[in-house]
Amino acid sequence: MRVLVIGNGGREHALAWKLADSRDVERVFVAPGNAGTATEPGVENLPILADDTDALILAARDHQVNLTVVGPEAPLVNGIVDRFQSAGLPCFGPSAGPAQLEGSKSFTKAFLDRHKIPTASWQAFTDPESARQYIKSQDVPLVLKADGLAAGKGVIIANDRGQALAAVDEILVDQRFGGAGRCLVIEDFLEGEEISFICVASGTQVVPLATSQDHKAREAGDRGPNTGGMGAYSPAPRVDAELHRRIMDEVIHPTVRGLAEEGMPYLGFLYAGLMIDTQGNPRVLEYNCRFGDPETQPILMRMRSDLAGLCQAALDGELDRFRIEWDPRFALGVVMVADGYPGEYPRGDKISGLQDIMSDNIKVFHAGTRQESGQTVTDGGRVLCVTALGATVDAAQQAAYGTVSTIHWPGAGWRPDIGWRALNR
Ligand code: AMP
Ligand code: GLY
Repeated sequence: MRVLVIGNGGREHALAWKLADSRDVERVFVAPGNAGTATEPGVENLPILADDTDALILAARDHQVNLTVVGPEAPLVNGIVDRFQSAGLPCFGPSAGPAQLEGSKSFTKAFLDRHKIPTASWQAFTDPESARQYIKSQDVPLVLKADGLAAGKGVIIANDRGQALAAVDEILVDQRFGGAGRCLVIEDFLEGEEISFICVASGTQVVPLATSQDHKAREAGDRGPNTGGMGAYSPAPRVDAELHRRIMDEVIHPTVRGLAEEGMPYLGFLYAGLMIDTQGNPRVLEYNCRFGDPETQPILMRMRSDLAGLCQAALDGELDRFRIEWDPRFALGVVMVADGYPGEYPRGDKISGLQDIMSDNIKVFHAGTRQESGQTVTDGGRVLCVTALGATVDAAQQAAYGTVSTIHWPGAGWRPDIGWRALNR
């Protein structure tokens, strides 16, 4: 089997690494990939961007690819799976219809209400004056969201009405998020503990992956600006058997059934971002139509089953027969970022220490890196995700940070407290 992975982040390095390890896979191509996928055994980069669908289809044909796995959300929302299918190429991911779960927040909120799936109460606006009137009638905090894809930046948490009114101007009047902000969703602020619940779905069949938790804030103690994710671990001890059952019954099954009933059967990774309140009630914060980054890295470190086989079973409608085996150990990934992230940051800094890491329990997944004259240099905000397995949270955390301290470039940064919630339990 020959596999193509689309994307260039840490998630895609982990997907390519795991797919290359699958029994029936002879070669994995990554478009465009990074320095990590360039040097991974059995993996080869193709210099094609993730949004160049025509070139990707040609490459998939040229290289006789039998399975394509799409990493990021933008190509999925833009219908890459529909294009591959029309070209007769098997592609693992949702088509444009169900990918609206991530592509449009107002679509998702209306869908959740139609199917009585718990979420914060909300209203959508295109007219700034109606949005302002609504804010005046509501308690704060409020959460204001640009409807469309905004690279993780389209959500503003307003602690007072002044901030909420300013966010209306930013999104609807000044159109800071362009077309993604033509529509504004305003919803109630939910308190609790946030978890990531990621599944593989194929129509109404669904297999949950191991649970995980991300760290979105840049600074220790969950302070500072929001990021794509500064580190993650699996499993999430907060999700006990009872909560797991409730999430499947109250959120995941109604979602895949509802999509199928509405003529949009889902295929691919389905990621529910959930807020769990103090009574243990799950509510949907967001849906993503893809695997999480950095959740993919610790989750796949623990996966003992064949990932290509799992994707193939989903494509064949045989997910019900697939059992996923997990390493019982804990996996924890620390994201190393460039100086300034999530704001402006430099590129092209030489990274040292990567070649000295020799342990079966540690894997350094690359994200924003590239090769330049035989050296690995930084090429993005999130640069690496150092991921470690350990018998306990503590052991995994020590192993990951032990390795982080041996990797260097000017201005490298990371959060020192990845895993704090699990450690506190
Ligand atoms: P989203 O892209 O919708 O997941 O929003 C990004 C982040 O904002 C989430 O991961 C949460 O941390 C936070 N967030 C979103 N919606 C809410 C809400 N209704 N209440 C509290 N926090 C929220
Ligand atoms: N780690 C959050 C995300 O992938 O959206």
